[in-house]
Amino acid sequence: AKNKLWGGRFEAKTSELMDKFNASLPFDINLMEYDIRGSLAHVKMLGRQDILKAEEVEKITEGLKAVRKDLRAELETGAFDFNEAEDIHSLVESRLTQKIGELGGKLHTGRSRNDQVAVDMRLYLRDQTEQIMEMILKFMQVLLELAEEHIETVMPGYTHLQRAQALTFGHHLLAYYFKMKRDYERFQDALKRINVSPLGSGALAGSSFNLDRDFTAQELGFDRACENSLDGVSDRDFVLEFLSVASNLMLHLSRLSEEVILWNSKEFSFIELADQYTTGSSIMPQKKNPDLAELVRGKTGRVIGSLNQLMLTIKGLPLAYNKDLQEDKEGLFDSVDTVKIILKLYPEMLKTMKVKKEVMKKAASKGFLNATELADFLADKGIPFRQAHQIVGEAVLFAAKKEKELDQLGQAEWEELLAQHIEVEAEVLQKKLSVEAAVNSHATKGGPAFTESKRTIKKEKKFLAEK
Ligand code: ARG
Repeated sequence: AKNKLWGGRFEAKTSELMDKFNASLPFDINLMEYDIRGSLAHVKMLGRQDILKAEEVEKITEGLKAVRKDLRAELETGAFDFNEAEDIHSLVESRLTQKIGELGGKLHTGRSRNDQVAVDMRLYLRDQTEQIMEMILKFMQVLLELAEEHIETVMPGYTHLQRAQALTFGHHLLAYYFKMKRDYERFQDALKRINVSPLGSGALAGSSFNLDRDFTAQELGFDRACENSLDGVSDRDFVLEFLSVASNLMLHLSRLSEEVILWNSKEFSFIELADQYTTGSSIMPQKKNPDLAELVRGKTGRVIGSLNQLMLTIKGLPLAYNKDLQEDKEGLFDSVDTVKIILKLYPEMLKTMKVKKEVMKKAASKGFLNATELADFLADKGIPFRQAHQIVGEAVLFAAKKEKELDQLGQAEWEELLAQHIEVEAEVLQKKLSVEAAVNSHATKGGPAFTESKRTIKKEKKFLAEK
């Protein structure tokens, strides 16, 4: 790369291959807006502190804005040369000097690329985190609306992927709503530690100039300036924390994807994904594959990979800056882009899928999902639950041999099973064991009963409305 920020103590030029290896401009160009914003705040502070003259500050400020304008245009048209400089910081300074002459060299007074890059990363991540949080809220809104539509859509609930107890599709969607709500809160919490200013930490040891760190922190919208210059330039916890929260979000979306894939299969056939969010096969004409959900599941590994990569990068680093830290960027940028496109697409896929209520209900009615209901009923009549469990187990075996469900047994069959324990009325049992009755009897706080889902949805609508 041309346009280096250093060179005085070197006698020979860097090898071309080394330049290529060393460069970060091809990816840290992503930080352009943030880098210039940081420089504008820095130069303003230099003026206030009488480190630079007012006219100098004005010229540098105008120059920086002009550089920004040029770069925006070049990036938009594709004219930008990614080999122009070593990194975004060198690029901006050399462009500035091209614009306003030698004076451009005063911008870096009292600053190092080490605190500069940390500022850029934090501004970038604050911006992206806020965008992602907005997108999560929209996603939650879609989940809540779908849940409301399906408060009474009965479906089988599973443990061990075996039919367990009946619940509703609405209740199931609410489970994901709350997982995402926690992700939202985790991003919100991470912001507290992202939004701290390292500017003025210098290379590692602060500065002999009388920098006003509180001013630049405030100017850039940070909550405060960091407390220790060595920490300021060496800390990448905020990136790790973001990646960890993002990984958790992806894990939730991956689990949902796994369910969407299962539900969309012929074997379950609970939903049918819309054409817009599925793809075909090049050989099997009948295929309509749930690629979006599969890719989300796949890309979860990619985001977790970036988290792991950065942990491994940082693990053995002595303080303060080491070039290894340049490796904090690509995985992060990639994760941010991945999460954002997924948060945009996924709600569309959910909104357009067809929910096959009848299939779900039929599945919930088969496989003795009401066995616990019967055991509870017997326990309610005074039979110890453990004994009731045994009796119902035998009833299930009995019904299974007759290829019947429990709510299909008649008076004589019930008497054969239960007469020695209770007085039986087949009609009462049939009602009690119907799939709707079973769901609705589960009205404990947070349970799948229709009334309980309604209450939850009302409460969460209020939460979203206040956001
Ligand atoms: N491109 C570098 C990075 O991303 C910027 C900081 C370089 N600092 C240095 N002392 N070489 O980490």
